[in-house]
Amino acid sequence: MSPVNTSPPATIVIFGASGDLAQRKLVPALHTLNCEGYLHPATRIVGVARSPLSDEALRDRLFEGVSDYARHPPECEHHIARAGICERWSQFAERISYLQGDYDDAETYRRLAELLAKLEPGTQGNALFYLATPPSLYKTVIGQLGNPELELNQSARAWRRVIVEKPFGHDGESARALDQFIHQVFDEDQVFRIDHYLGKETVQNILTFRFANLIFEPLWNRNYVDHVQITVAEDVGVEHRAGYYDQAGVLRDVFQNHLLQLLTLTAVEPPSVFNAAALRNEKAEVLRAVRMGEWNVRAQYVGYQDESGVAPDSQTPTYAALKLFVDNWRWGGVPFYLRSGKALAAKVTEIVVQFKQVPHAIFSRPVELDAPPNVLALCIQPHEGIHLRFQAKELGAGTRSRPVNMTFRYEREFRSEGEADINPLPDAYERLLLDATQGDGSLFARHDEIELAWKLVDPIIAAWEQPDAPPLAFYEPGSWGPAEADELLAKDEGRTWYSNCGDERVSE
Ligand code: BG6
Repeated sequence: MSPVNTSPPATIVIFGASGDLAQRKLVPALHTLNCEGYLHPATRIVGVARSPLSDEALRDRLFEGVSDYARHPPECEHHIARAGICERWSQFAERISYLQGDYDDAETYRRLAELLAKLEPGTQGNALFYLATPPSLYKTVIGQLGNPELELNQSARAWRRVIVEKPFGHDGESARALDQFIHQVFDEDQVFRIDHYLGKETVQNILTFRFANLIFEPLWNRNYVDHVQITVAEDVGVEHRAGYYDQAGVLRDVFQNHLLQLLTLTAVEPPSVFNAAALRNEKAEVLRAVRMGEWNVRAQYVGYQDESGVAPDSQTPTYAALKLFVDNWRWGGVPFYLRSGKALAAKVTEIVVQFKQVPHAIFSRPVELDAPPNVLALCIQPHEGIHLRFQAKELGAGTRSRPVNMTFRYEREFRSEGEADINPLPDAYERLLLDATQGDGSLFARHDEIELAWKLVDPIIAAWEQPDAPPLAFYEPGSWGPAEADELLAKDEGRTWYSNCGDERVSE
Protein backbone atom coordinates (compact mmCIF):
# COMPACT_ATOMS: atom_id res chain seq x y z
CA MET A 1 0.00 0.00 0.00
CA SER A 2 1.20 3.53 -0.53
CA PRO A 3 -0.36 6.44 1.33
CA VAL A 4 -2.64 7.80 -1.37
CA ASN A 5 -5.86 7.02 0.42
CA THR A 6 -5.61 8.36 3.92
CA SER A 7 -8.48 7.98 6.34
CA PRO A 8 -10.71 10.95 7.10
CA PRO A 9 -10.51 12.38 10.63
CA ALA A 10 -12.61 10.28 13.03
CA THR A 11 -12.89 8.71 16.44
CA ILE A 12 -12.61 4.94 16.36
CA VAL A 13 -14.51 3.55 19.32
CA ILE A 14 -13.58 -0.01 20.22
CA PHE A 15 -16.12 -1.81 22.42
CA GLY A 16 -14.23 -4.67 24.05
CA ALA A 17 -10.97 -2.71 24.15
CA SER A 18 -9.42 -4.88 26.86
CA GLY A 19 -9.97 -8.06 24.82
CA ASP A 20 -7.81 -10.16 22.54
CA LEU A 21 -9.04 -8.80 19.23
CA ALA A 22 -8.20 -5.21 20.14
CA GLN A 23 -4.78 -6.19 21.41
CA ARG A 24 -3.76 -8.65 18.71
CA LYS A 25 -5.42 -7.23 15.63
CA LEU A 26 -7.17 -3.86 15.81
CA VAL A 27 -4.63 -1.63 17.50
CA PRO A 28 -1.60 -3.24 15.78
CA ALA A 29 -3.39 -2.59 12.46
CA LEU A 30 -4.15 1.04 13.38
CA HIS A 31 -0.56 1.55 14.54
CA THR A 32 0.76 0.19 11.23
CA LEU A 33 -1.64 2.37 9.24
CA ASN A 34 -0.31 5.30 11.25
CA CYS A 35 3.34 4.34 10.61
CA GLU A 36 2.64 4.15 6.88
CA GLY A 37 0.89 7.51 6.81
CA TYR A 38 -2.63 6.20 6.17
CA LEU A 39 -4.20 7.41 9.36
CA HIS A 40 -5.36 11.00 9.55
CA PRO A 41 -3.36 12.77 12.30
CA ALA A 42 -6.61 13.81 13.99
CA THR A 43 -7.72 10.19 14.44
CA ARG A 44 -8.61 9.36 18.03
CA ILE A 45 -9.13 5.91 19.51
CA VAL A 46 -11.48 5.40 22.43
CA GLY A 47 -11.45 1.99 24.10
CA VAL A 48 -14.59 0.99 25.99
CA ALA A 49 -14.69 -1.99 28.35
CA ARG A 50 -15.78 -3.02 31.80
CA SER A 51 -12.36 -3.64 33.39
CA PRO A 52 -11.07 -0.93 35.70
CA LEU A 53 -8.08 0.43 33.76
CA SER A 54 -6.40 3.81 33.48
CA ASP A 55 -5.55 5.29 30.07
CA GLU A 56 -1.92 4.40 30.80
CA ALA A 57 -2.71 0.79 31.73
CA LEU A 58 -4.69 0.32 28.52
CA ARG A 59 -1.90 1.86 26.44
CA ASP A 60 0.69 -0.44 28.07
CA ARG A 61 -1.44 -3.45 27.27
CA LEU A 62 -1.93 -2.32 23.69
CA PHE A 63 1.78 -1.56 23.37
CA GLU A 64 2.49 -5.23 24.06
CA GLY A 65 0.08 -6.19 21.30
CA VAL A 66 1.73 -3.78 18.89
CA SER A 67 5.20 -5.11 19.79
CA ASP A 68 4.09 -8.71 19.26
CA TYR A 69 1.73 -8.46 16.32
CA ALA A 70 2.02 -5.21 14.34
CA ARG A 71 3.77 -5.33 10.97
CA HIS A 72 5.66 -2.21 11.97
CA PRO A 73 7.21 -2.69 15.38
CA PRO A 74 6.88 0.30 17.71
CA GLU A 75 10.65 0.68 17.64
CA CYS A 76 10.68 1.32 13.89
CA GLU A 77 13.97 2.79 12.82
CA HIS A 78 12.41 5.69 10.92
CA HIS A 79 11.35 7.28 14.14
CA ILE A 80 13.23 8.54 17.12
CA ALA A 81 13.46 6.00 19.91
CA ARG A 82 12.47 7.22 23.32
CA ALA A 83 12.91 4.92 26.28
CA GLY A 84 12.70 1.92 23.98
CA ILE A 85 9.48 3.15 22.42
CA CYS A 86 9.70 4.90 19.10
CA GLU A 87 8.17 8.32 18.84
CA ARG A 88 5.51 7.14 16.45
CA TRP A 89 4.11 4.86 19.13
CA SER A 90 4.24 7.50 21.85
CA GLN A 91 2.48 10.03 19.61
CA PHE A 92 -0.02 7.39 18.62
CA ALA A 93 -0.56 6.24 22.22
CA GLU A 94 -1.46 9.78 23.25
CA ARG A 95 -4.45 9.52 20.95
CA ILE A 96 -5.80 6.45 22.76
CA SER A 97 -8.09 6.93 25.74
CA TYR A 98 -10.11 4.58 27.87
CA LEU A 99 -13.70 4.75 28.95
CA GLN A 100 -14.70 2.27 31.61
CA GLY A 101 -18.35 1.32 31.85
CA ASP A 102 -20.97 -1.38 31.64
CA TYR A 103 -22.25 -2.05 28.15
CA ASP A 104 -25.86 -1.99 29.32
CA ASP A 105 -25.56 1.22 31.33
CA ALA A 106 -26.91 4.34 29.60
CA GLU A 107 -24.39 6.39 31.60
CA THR A 108 -21.49 4.75 29.68
CA TYR A 109 -22.96 6.06 26.44
CA ARG A 110 -23.72 9.48 27.86
CA ARG A 111 -20.03 9.83 28.77
CA LEU A 112 -19.09 8.50 25.32
CA ALA A 113 -21.31 11.11 23.67
CA GLU A 114 -19.61 13.81 25.76
CA LEU A 115 -16.19 12.55 24.77
CA LEU A 116 -17.09 12.46 21.08
CA ALA A 117 -18.37 16.04 21.34
CA LYS A 118 -15.16 17.12 23.05
CA LEU A 119 -13.06 15.53 20.31
CA GLU A 120 -15.22 16.97 17.54
CA PRO A 121 -13.01 19.94 16.64
CA GLY A 122 -10.33 17.46 15.46
CA THR A 123 -12.43 14.49 14.37
CA GLN A 124 -15.20 16.58 12.79
CA GLY A 125 -17.66 14.43 14.70
CA ASN A 126 -17.09 11.30 12.59
CA ALA A 127 -17.21 8.04 14.53
CA LEU A 128 -16.63 4.40 13.72
CA PHE A 129 -17.95 2.01 16.37
CA TYR A 130 -16.20 -1.37 16.42
CA LEU A 131 -18.01 -4.23 18.18
CA ALA A 132 -15.09 -6.31 19.43
CA THR A 133 -17.18 -7.77 22.25
CA PRO A 134 -18.65 -11.27 22.50
CA PRO A 135 -21.62 -11.53 20.07
CA SER A 136 -24.01 -11.85 23.03
CA LEU A 137 -23.42 -8.12 23.65
CA TYR A 138 -24.03 -6.87 20.09
CA LYS A 139 -27.69 -6.06 20.65
CA THR A 140 -27.00 -4.43 24.01
CA VAL A 141 -24.38 -2.08 22.56
CA ILE A 142 -26.30 -1.33 19.37
CA GLY A 143 -29.49 -0.69 21.32
CA GLN A 144 -27.65 1.84 23.49
CA LEU A 145 -26.03 3.49 20.46
CA GLY A 146 -29.57 3.98 19.19
CA ASN A 147 -30.71 5.82 22.33
CA PRO A 148 -32.65 8.74 20.79
CA GLU A 149 -31.55 11.11 23.54
CA LEU A 150 -27.89 10.71 22.63
CA GLU A 151 -28.08 10.07 18.88
CA LEU A 152 -24.74 8.34 18.74
CA ASN A 153 -25.91 6.48 15.65
CA GLN A 154 -26.37 9.60 13.57
CA SER A 155 -25.18 13.14 13.22
CA ALA A 156 -26.33 15.91 10.95
CA ARG A 157 -22.76 17.08 10.41
CA ALA A 158 -20.76 13.86 10.35
CA TRP A 159 -20.82 10.15 9.53
CA ARG A 160 -21.43 7.37 12.02
CA ARG A 161 -20.70 3.71 11.18
CA VAL A 162 -20.60 0.38 12.95
CA ILE A 163 -18.35 -2.63 12.34
CA VAL A 164 -19.79 -5.96 13.45
CA GLU A 165 -17.41 -8.88 13.98
CA LYS A 166 -18.20 -12.45 13.04
CA PRO A 167 -19.96 -14.69 13.95
CA PHE A 168 -22.96 -12.84 12.54
CA GLY A 169 -25.70 -14.95 14.04
CA HIS A 170 -25.68 -18.62 14.96
CA ASP A 171 -27.93 -19.59 12.05
CA GLY A 172 -30.03 -17.92 9.39
CA GLU A 173 -32.82 -17.03 11.77
CA SER A 174 -30.64 -15.39 14.39
CA ALA A 175 -28.65 -13.56 11.67
CA ARG A 176 -31.90 -12.16 10.27
CA ALA A 177 -33.07 -11.13 13.74
CA LEU A 178 -29.73 -9.42 14.41
CA ASP A 179 -29.99 -7.61 11.10
CA GLN A 180 -33.49 -6.40 11.83
CA PHE A 181 -32.32 -5.14 15.19
CA ILE A 182 -29.30 -3.35 13.70
CA HIS A 183 -31.47 -1.76 11.03
CA GLN A 184 -33.63 -0.13 13.69
CA VAL A 185 -30.53 1.84 14.65
CA PHE A 186 -28.29 2.02 11.57
CA ASP A 187 -28.98 2.14 7.83
CA GLU A 188 -27.41 -0.62 5.74
CA ASP A 189 -24.74 1.72 4.37
CA GLN A 190 -23.60 2.42 7.94
CA VAL A 191 -23.11 -1.27 8.72
CA PHE A 192 -19.82 -3.07 8.03
CA ARG A 193 -19.90 -6.83 8.67
CA ILE A 194 -16.35 -8.11 8.90
CA ASP A 195 -15.09 -11.24 7.27
CA HIS A 196 -11.36 -10.77 7.72
CA TYR A 197 -10.65 -13.11 4.78
CA LEU A 198 -11.91 -10.40 2.45
CA GLY A 199 -9.22 -8.06 3.77
CA LYS A 200 -6.40 -10.48 2.98
CA GLU A 201 -4.29 -9.14 0.16
CA THR A 202 -4.21 -12.48 -1.65
CA VAL A 203 -7.98 -12.83 -1.43
CA GLN A 204 -8.42 -9.41 -3.03
CA ASN A 205 -5.96 -10.55 -5.67
CA ILE A 206 -8.38 -13.26 -6.82
CA LEU A 207 -10.40 -10.56 -8.58
CA THR A 208 -7.33 -8.74 -9.88
CA PHE A 209 -5.90 -11.98 -11.21
CA ARG A 210 -9.14 -12.85 -12.94
CA PHE A 211 -10.25 -9.46 -14.22
CA ALA A 212 -7.06 -7.44 -14.73
CA ASN A 213 -5.59 -10.14 -16.99
CA LEU A 214 -6.92 -11.38 -20.25
CA ILE A 215 -5.33 -14.79 -20.47
CA PHE A 216 -6.96 -16.72 -17.62
CA GLU A 217 -10.59 -15.66 -17.81
CA PRO A 218 -11.38 -17.40 -21.15
CA LEU A 219 -10.45 -20.69 -19.44
CA TRP A 220 -12.34 -19.96 -16.23
CA ASN A 221 -15.46 -22.02 -16.92
CA ARG A 222 -16.95 -25.46 -17.35
CA ASN A 223 -15.33 -25.97 -20.75
CA TYR A 224 -11.82 -26.02 -19.34
CA VAL A 225 -12.07 -26.44 -15.57
CA ASP A 226 -12.32 -30.01 -14.30
CA HIS A 227 -12.93 -29.02 -10.67
CA VAL A 228 -11.99 -26.49 -8.00
CA GLN A 229 -10.68 -27.22 -4.50
CA ILE A 230 -10.72 -24.70 -1.66
CA THR A 231 -8.79 -25.58 1.47
CA VAL A 232 -8.53 -23.70 4.74
CA ALA A 233 -6.31 -25.95 6.84
CA GLU A 234 -5.10 -25.02 10.30
CA ASP A 235 -2.38 -26.73 12.26
CA VAL A 236 -3.64 -25.52 15.65
CA GLY A 237 -6.52 -26.98 17.66
CA VAL A 238 -9.24 -24.95 19.35
CA GLU A 239 -6.73 -23.36 21.73
CA HIS A 240 -8.40 -21.12 24.32
CA ARG A 241 -11.66 -20.70 22.34
CA ALA A 242 -13.29 -24.00 23.20
CA GLY A 243 -16.27 -22.34 24.89
CA TYR A 244 -17.25 -20.65 21.64
CA TYR A 245 -16.02 -23.34 19.26
CA ASP A 246 -17.77 -26.28 20.86
CA GLN A 247 -21.09 -24.49 20.29
CA ALA A 248 -20.16 -23.40 16.77
CA GLY A 249 -18.23 -26.18 15.01
CA VAL A 250 -16.36 -25.87 11.76
CA LEU A 251 -19.29 -25.05 9.44
CA ARG A 252 -20.39 -22.02 11.44
CA ASP A 253 -16.84 -21.00 12.28
CA VAL A 254 -15.28 -20.87 8.83
CA PHE A 255 -17.54 -22.29 6.07
CA GLN A 256 -20.48 -19.92 6.46
CA ASN A 257 -18.08 -17.01 6.04
CA HIS A 258 -14.48 -17.54 4.88
CA LEU A 259 -14.84 -20.58 2.63
CA LEU A 260 -18.04 -19.44 0.98
CA GLN A 261 -16.50 -16.00 0.41
CA LEU A 262 -13.49 -17.64 -1.28
CA LEU A 263 -15.84 -19.71 -3.42
CA THR A 264 -17.82 -16.62 -4.34
CA LEU A 265 -14.78 -14.66 -5.49
CA THR A 266 -13.54 -17.64 -7.49
CA ALA A 267 -16.85 -18.11 -9.25
CA VAL A 268 -18.21 -14.56 -9.50
CA GLU A 269 -19.03 -12.84 -12.82
CA PRO A 270 -17.13 -9.62 -13.52
CA PRO A 271 -19.17 -6.59 -12.43
CA SER A 272 -19.12 -3.78 -14.97
CA VAL A 273 -17.49 -1.47 -12.43
CA PHE A 274 -15.69 -2.13 -9.19
CA ASN A 275 -17.82 -0.76 -6.42
CA ALA A 276 -19.47 -2.21 -3.35
CA ALA A 277 -22.99 -2.46 -4.77
CA ALA A 278 -22.01 -3.98 -8.13
CA LEU A 279 -19.61 -6.49 -6.65
CA ARG A 280 -21.94 -7.56 -3.87
CA ASN A 281 -24.83 -8.01 -6.29
CA GLU A 282 -22.71 -10.41 -8.33
CA LYS A 283 -21.49 -12.25 -5.25
CA ALA A 284 -25.04 -12.73 -4.03
CA GLU A 285 -25.90 -14.22 -7.46
CA VAL A 286 -23.21 -16.86 -6.99
CA LEU A 287 -24.47 -17.79 -3.54
CA ARG A 288 -27.99 -18.09 -4.93
CA ALA A 289 -26.71 -20.55 -7.53
CA VAL A 290 -24.84 -22.80 -5.09
CA ARG A 291 -26.22 -26.30 -4.63
CA MET A 292 -24.86 -28.87 -2.23
CA GLY A 293 -23.48 -32.01 -3.87
CA GLU A 294 -24.26 -35.59 -3.00
CA TRP A 295 -21.72 -36.04 -0.20
CA ASN A 296 -20.12 -34.29 2.72
CA VAL A 297 -17.87 -35.38 5.57
CA ARG A 298 -17.70 -34.24 9.15
CA ALA A 299 -15.01 -35.24 11.58
CA GLN A 300 -13.33 -34.40 14.84
CA TYR A 301 -9.66 -34.60 15.77
CA VAL A 302 -8.70 -37.24 18.28
CA GLY A 303 -8.17 -35.53 21.65
CA TYR A 304 -10.64 -32.70 21.00
CA GLN A 305 -13.01 -34.03 23.67
CA ASP A 306 -10.18 -33.75 26.24
CA GLU A 307 -9.56 -30.06 25.50
CA SER A 308 -10.47 -27.79 28.38
CA GLY A 309 -13.92 -26.29 27.88
CA VAL A 310 -15.09 -29.03 25.47
CA ALA A 311 -17.92 -31.37 26.48
CA PRO A 312 -16.42 -34.85 27.04
CA ASP A 313 -18.93 -36.42 24.64
CA SER A 314 -18.90 -33.50 22.20
CA GLN A 315 -20.02 -34.33 18.66
CA THR A 316 -18.87 -30.94 17.33
CA PRO A 317 -17.05 -31.33 14.04
CA THR A 318 -13.63 -29.71 13.82
CA TYR A 319 -13.28 -30.75 10.17
CA ALA A 320 -15.62 -30.79 7.22
CA ALA A 321 -15.37 -31.44 3.52
CA LEU A 322 -18.24 -30.50 1.20
CA LYS A 323 -18.90 -31.06 -2.45
CA LEU A 324 -21.00 -28.42 -4.11
CA PHE A 325 -21.95 -26.98 -7.46
CA VAL A 326 -22.61 -23.51 -8.80
CA ASP A 327 -25.64 -24.01 -11.01
CA ASN A 328 -25.17 -21.40 -13.68
CA TRP A 329 -24.09 -21.14 -17.30
CA ARG A 330 -20.39 -20.74 -16.48
CA TRP A 331 -20.03 -23.46 -13.86
CA GLY A 332 -22.76 -26.03 -14.62
CA GLY A 333 -21.49 -29.51 -13.63
CA VAL A 334 -18.09 -28.40 -12.24
CA PRO A 335 -17.62 -29.70 -8.69
CA PHE A 336 -16.25 -27.36 -6.05
CA TYR A 337 -14.71 -29.23 -3.12
CA LEU A 338 -14.38 -27.23 0.09
CA ARG A 339 -12.61 -28.46 3.20
CA SER A 340 -11.35 -27.06 6.43
CA GLY A 341 -10.17 -28.41 9.71
CA LYS A 342 -8.30 -27.70 12.89
CA ALA A 343 -5.22 -29.67 14.04
CA LEU A 344 -4.27 -30.63 10.50
CA ALA A 345 -0.76 -31.18 9.15
CA ALA A 346 -0.12 -27.57 8.13
CA LYS A 347 -1.60 -24.10 8.00
CA VAL A 348 -2.49 -23.64 4.36
CA THR A 349 -5.21 -21.67 2.65
CA GLU A 350 -5.43 -22.17 -1.08
CA ILE A 351 -7.72 -22.30 -4.06
CA VAL A 352 -6.74 -24.88 -6.63
CA VAL A 353 -8.21 -24.93 -10.11
CA GLN A 354 -7.59 -28.21 -11.89
CA PHE A 355 -8.06 -27.98 -15.64
CA LYS A 356 -9.29 -30.74 -17.92
CA GLN A 357 -7.04 -33.12 -19.79
CA VAL A 358 -5.85 -32.33 -23.29
CA PRO A 359 -8.44 -33.68 -25.74
CA HIS A 360 -6.08 -35.73 -27.87
CA ALA A 361 -2.60 -37.23 -27.35
CA ILE A 362 -0.08 -36.50 -30.05
CA PHE A 363 3.07 -37.56 -28.24
CA SER A 364 3.53 -41.25 -27.78
CA ARG A 365 5.45 -41.31 -24.46
CA PRO A 366 4.12 -40.79 -21.91
CA VAL A 367 0.54 -40.68 -23.02
CA GLU A 368 -0.49 -37.15 -22.01
CA LEU A 369 -3.99 -38.27 -21.28
CA ASP A 370 -2.46 -39.84 -18.18
CA ALA A 371 -0.11 -36.94 -17.50
CA PRO A 372 -0.98 -34.63 -14.61
CA PRO A 373 -3.36 -31.95 -15.85
CA ASN A 374 -2.67 -28.21 -15.63
CA VAL A 375 -3.23 -26.85 -12.18
CA LEU A 376 -3.47 -23.24 -11.09
CA ALA A 377 -3.09 -22.62 -7.36
CA LEU A 378 -3.93 -19.34 -5.71
CA CYS A 379 -1.96 -19.56 -2.50
CA ILE A 380 -3.70 -17.36 0.05
CA GLN A 381 -1.39 -18.19 2.96
CA PRO A 382 1.25 -18.79 4.22
CA HIS A 383 3.32 -18.71 1.00
CA GLU A 384 1.27 -15.99 -0.65
CA GLY A 385 1.49 -16.29 -4.40
CA ILE A 386 0.37 -18.19 -7.46
CA HIS A 387 1.59 -21.44 -9.02
CA LEU A 388 0.82 -22.71 -12.47
CA ARG A 389 1.64 -26.32 -13.27
CA PHE A 390 2.14 -27.34 -16.87
CA GLN A 391 3.91 -30.04 -18.84
CA ALA A 392 7.42 -29.34 -20.15
CA LYS A 393 9.48 -31.46 -22.45
CA GLU A 394 12.25 -33.35 -20.75
CA LEU A 395 15.72 -32.69 -22.07
CA GLY A 396 17.21 -34.91 -24.73
CA ALA A 397 15.91 -37.26 -27.35
CA GLY A 398 12.29 -38.30 -27.55
CA THR A 399 9.10 -36.49 -26.53
CA ARG A 400 8.90 -37.29 -22.82
CA SER A 401 7.48 -34.51 -20.67
CA ARG A 402 7.00 -33.87 -16.98
CA PRO A 403 5.07 -31.32 -14.90
CA VAL A 404 6.88 -28.12 -13.91
CA ASN A 405 5.77 -25.05 -11.93
CA MET A 406 5.72 -21.40 -12.81
CA THR A 407 5.67 -19.53 -9.50
CA PHE A 408 4.88 -16.00 -8.38
CA ARG A 409 5.61 -15.06 -4.75
CA TYR A 410 4.26 -11.86 -3.25
CA GLU A 411 7.10 -11.44 -0.80
CA ARG A 412 9.79 -11.71 -3.45
CA GLU A 413 8.02 -9.35 -5.82
CA PHE A 414 6.83 -6.64 -3.45
CA ARG A 415 9.36 -6.38 -0.60
CA SER A 416 10.74 -2.88 -0.72
CA GLU A 417 14.43 -2.19 -0.46
CA GLY A 418 15.52 -0.78 2.88
CA GLU A 419 12.55 -2.41 4.60
CA ALA A 420 13.76 -5.97 4.42
CA ASP A 421 12.46 -6.73 7.91
CA ILE A 422 8.94 -5.53 7.28
CA ASN A 423 6.46 -7.95 5.79
CA PRO A 424 5.10 -6.20 2.69
CA LEU A 425 1.70 -7.91 2.99
CA PRO A 426 -0.69 -5.74 4.98
CA ASP A 427 -2.71 -7.50 7.63
CA ALA A 428 -6.37 -7.91 6.68
CA TYR A 429 -7.48 -5.59 9.50
CA GLU A 430 -5.33 -2.74 8.18
CA ARG A 431 -7.21 -2.69 4.92
CA LEU A 432 -10.64 -3.29 6.44
CA LEU A 433 -10.31 -0.57 9.08
CA LEU A 434 -9.11 1.90 6.48
CA ASP A 435 -11.96 1.01 4.10
CA ALA A 436 -14.54 1.38 6.87
CA THR A 437 -13.29 4.88 7.71
CA GLN A 438 -13.65 5.68 4.04
CA GLY A 439 -17.14 4.22 3.84
CA ASP A 440 -16.16 1.59 1.27
CA GLY A 441 -18.08 -1.63 1.92
CA SER A 442 -16.71 -3.64 -1.04
CA LEU A 443 -14.70 -5.92 1.24
CA PHE A 444 -17.48 -6.39 3.79
CA ALA A 445 -20.37 -8.83 3.62
CA ARG A 446 -23.80 -7.44 2.84
CA HIS A 447 -26.84 -8.74 4.74
CA ASP A 448 -28.09 -10.83 1.80
CA GLU A 449 -24.72 -12.58 1.39
CA ILE A 450 -24.78 -13.52 5.07
CA GLU A 451 -28.32 -14.85 4.85
CA LEU A 452 -27.65 -16.80 1.66
CA ALA A 453 -24.56 -18.35 3.23
CA TRP A 454 -26.56 -19.44 6.30
CA LYS A 455 -29.19 -20.89 3.99
CA LEU A 456 -26.50 -23.17 2.58
CA VAL A 457 -24.96 -24.37 5.82
CA ASP A 458 -28.06 -24.54 8.06
CA PRO A 459 -29.53 -27.65 6.37
CA ILE A 460 -26.22 -29.49 6.54
CA ILE A 461 -25.88 -28.76 10.25
CA ALA A 462 -29.50 -29.85 10.77
CA ALA A 463 -28.90 -33.09 8.85
CA TRP A 464 -25.82 -33.84 10.92
CA GLU A 465 -27.87 -33.47 14.08
CA GLN A 466 -30.44 -36.09 12.99
CA PRO A 467 -30.31 -39.42 14.87
CA ASP A 468 -29.86 -41.32 11.59
CA ALA A 469 -26.95 -39.13 10.37
CA PRO A 470 -23.78 -41.02 9.46
CA PRO A 471 -21.51 -41.13 12.50
CA LEU A 472 -18.90 -38.47 13.11
CA ALA A 473 -15.52 -39.53 11.71
CA PHE A 474 -12.24 -39.02 13.57
CA TYR A 475 -8.76 -38.05 12.44
CA GLU A 476 -5.35 -37.86 14.04
CA PRO A 477 -4.04 -34.41 14.87
CA GLY A 478 -1.24 -33.54 12.46
CA SER A 479 -2.82 -35.56 9.61
CA TRP A 480 -4.69 -34.21 6.58
CA GLY A 481 -8.07 -35.18 7.99
CA PRO A 482 -10.25 -38.30 7.95
CA ALA A 483 -9.81 -41.11 5.43
CA GLU A 484 -13.48 -40.65 4.48
CA ALA A 485 -12.71 -37.33 2.80
CA ASP A 486 -10.00 -38.95 0.66
CA GLU A 487 -12.22 -41.89 -0.21
CA LEU A 488 -15.20 -39.80 -1.25
CA LEU A 489 -13.04 -37.55 -3.40
CA ALA A 490 -11.35 -40.59 -4.96
CA LYS A 491 -14.80 -41.97 -5.87
CA ASP A 492 -15.26 -38.81 -7.96
CA GLU A 493 -13.15 -39.87 -10.95
CA GLY A 494 -10.09 -40.76 -8.84
CA ARG A 495 -9.47 -37.19 -7.70
CA THR A 496 -7.09 -36.36 -4.84
CA TRP A 497 -6.72 -33.36 -2.55
CA TYR A 498 -4.03 -30.81 -3.19
CA SER A 499 -2.36 -29.74 0.00
CA ASN A 500 0.66 -27.67 -0.72
CA CYS A 501 -0.28 -24.82 -2.94
CA GLY A 502 -1.15 -26.88 -5.91
CA ASP A 503 1.12 -29.85 -5.20
CA GLU A 504 -0.36 -33.22 -4.51
CA ARG A 505 -0.01 -34.29 -0.95
CA VAL A 506 3.26 -35.84 0.06
CA SER A 507 2.33 -39.10 1.73
CA GLU A 508 1.80 -38.81 5.47
C1 BG6 B 1 -11.55 -17.21 12.38
C2 BG6 B 1 -12.04 -18.47 13.04
O1 BG6 B 1 -12.62 -16.52 11.79
O2 BG6 B 1 -10.61 -17.54 11.39
C3 BG6 B 1 -10.86 -19.23 13.63
O3 BG6 B 1 -12.97 -18.15 14.06
C4 BG6 B 1 -9.80 -19.47 12.60
O4 BG6 B 1 -11.28 -20.46 14.20
C5 BG6 B 1 -9.45 -18.17 11.88
O5 BG6 B 1 -8.67 -19.97 13.26
C6 BG6 B 1 -8.52 -18.42 10.71
O6 BG6 B 1 -8.06 -17.20 10.24
P1 BG6 B 1 -6.64 -17.08 9.56
O7 BG6 B 1 -6.56 -15.66 9.12
O8 BG6 B 1 -5.61 -17.43 10.61
O9 BG6 B 1 -6.62 -18.05 8.44
